[in-house]
Amino acid sequence: MHIHRYERIWMIFGLAMLIIFMATIFVAAFADNINPPHGSQTIDPAKVATTAPFDHPGLHRNADGTYDAYYIAEVFQFAPSKLTVPVGSTVTFFVTSSDVVHGFEIAQTDVNVMAIPGWVNTASHTFKKAGTYLLVCNEYCGIGHQNMFGSIEVK
Ligand code: CUA
Repeated sequence: MHIHRYERIWMIFGLAMLIIFMATIFVAAFADNINPPHGSQTIDPAKVATTAPFDHPGLHRNADGTYDAYYIAEVFQFAPSKLTVPVGSTVTFFVTSSDVVHGFEIAQTDVNVMAIPGWVNTASHTFKKAGTYLLVCNEYCGIGHQNMFGSIEVK
């Protein structure tokens, strides 16, 4: 059987496209499970309370004047439940969970990350206005979900 040269090129081209297509489908289907969420670090959820810096949750001042705030979410509270930061502060929140998936949303800001066991998620915010900011869990996490909140006082 004679196959024309151009026909052969088209067959190879078609096969190559099929392979690329299937590889794309495969990556799209499984990559989310293989790769961590962007900007995340891993942590052993069973050892959160003894893993630095989460063994001392709360506010840590950096040399450049910004702050890091380490939070543990667990049924049905945040540690720390209350945080006080000076007005004008830029705070980077590091959030993890020691049990199930929780939400970590600070009202009146764009801070909204998930607290996922095994992962540390981060978000930053500059608190330009004084006041009390409500911290809420916005992922259903069980019977006490609606009572899971904290506050950040900016003064
Ligand atoms: Cu924690 Cu909802």
